[in-house]
Amino acid sequence: MDQAEKLREMVSKESHKIADAIIPGPSPGRISGVAPWVVSVTSGKGGVGKTNIVGNLAVSFQRKGKNVLVFDADLGLANIDIIFGIHPKDNIDAVIRGEKKLSEIIVHGPEGVSVIPASSGIEEMANLTEGQKLHLLSEFDDLNHRFDIMMVDTGAGISSNVVYFNMAAQKRIVVVTPEPTSITDAYALLKVMFNQYKTQEFSILMNMVQDEKEGKAVFKKLSQVADKFLKGVCLDYVGCILRDEYLKQAVVKRQPVVCAYPRSVASRNVDVLADRLLRSAAESDPADGNIKFFWKRLVEETG
Ligand SMILES: Nc1ncnc2c1ncn2[C@@H]1O[C@H](COP(=O)(O)OP(=O)(O)OP(=O)(O)O)[C@@H](O)[C@H]1O
Ligand SMILES: [Mg+2]
Repeated sequence: MDQAEKLREMVSKESHKIADAIIPGPSPGRISGVAPWVVSVTSGKGGVGKTNIVGNLAVSFQRKGKNVLVFDADLGLANIDIIFGIHPKDNIDAVIRGEKKLSEIIVHGPEGVSVIPASSGIEEMANLTEGQKLHLLSEFDDLNHRFDIMMVDTGAGISSNVVYFNMAAQKRIVVVTPEPTSITDAYALLKVMFNQYKTQEFSILMNMVQDEKEGKAVFKKLSQVADKFLKGVCLDYVGCILRDEYLKQAVVKRQPVVCAYPRSVASRNVDVLADRLLRSAAESDPADGNIKFFWKRLVEETG
């Protein structure tokens, strides 16, 4: 058992105890009845649609009665602020410095989705003092009572931050497009996650495909290579979002496509995907899906 595995086991055992102690039982609308479901959305290559997927799925989940928190962990330019049309004043840096409470920096996007804005502080996770880490842990603990789902937009690539956020999440959605570099870069990400952290399970979401057939064909290609070279990795096809001009137009309007053009093909794809993901959330182990423990895995791994 390597260090990351030991840590997971420890955290998972402890999270059972704490989740049982603080949350008395199922509340209406909650997926697991115990703790929020933590999903990262990631990719090997940039510009494949992660932020749009996070934003649209978040709105879709919220419409289905879930309380959703988006954690923008991507420091790139095309972040969630753009498609949510929000202008956050503060970010998590202010919480790390002890100037603000986490609840004070959370902003509201469309249809009641909550957002923790991005920050350069994320890049300096490894430099946080023990005191700062503990402070963040207790701040994140409060969120467990308020949300059903936390979605993390990780940014692209195999930098340590992307890898850490994926490692700590309960479900990892890897966005892939039919572009050859998107496929090879996704494979590189799977390889790093598997070799360094023994992460085995990934959900593959095909974006910007012509039709479902193309999506499934690209998935098959990726999973054949993974089967051959990454023994033990398990890829699950979660579905596809077709290339849709309406999605681009929605971005120009600074809105998620499910708000701007709810009847577009992309919006219908997102809706189907949200239903499928909620079914898989209902089957997942609730003890792993706890925002505090997501954060705990993160700070311990980066420390
Ligand atoms: N299904 C789609 N159909 C058409 N265009 C799309 C689709 N998905 C994404 N796009 C286009 O790709 C652009 C990039 O999307 P987005 O910003 O969500 O990608 P990203 O993976 O978050 O990028 P980054 O890695 O830079 O953070 C969008 O602005 C949009 O123009
Ligand atoms: Mg993005």
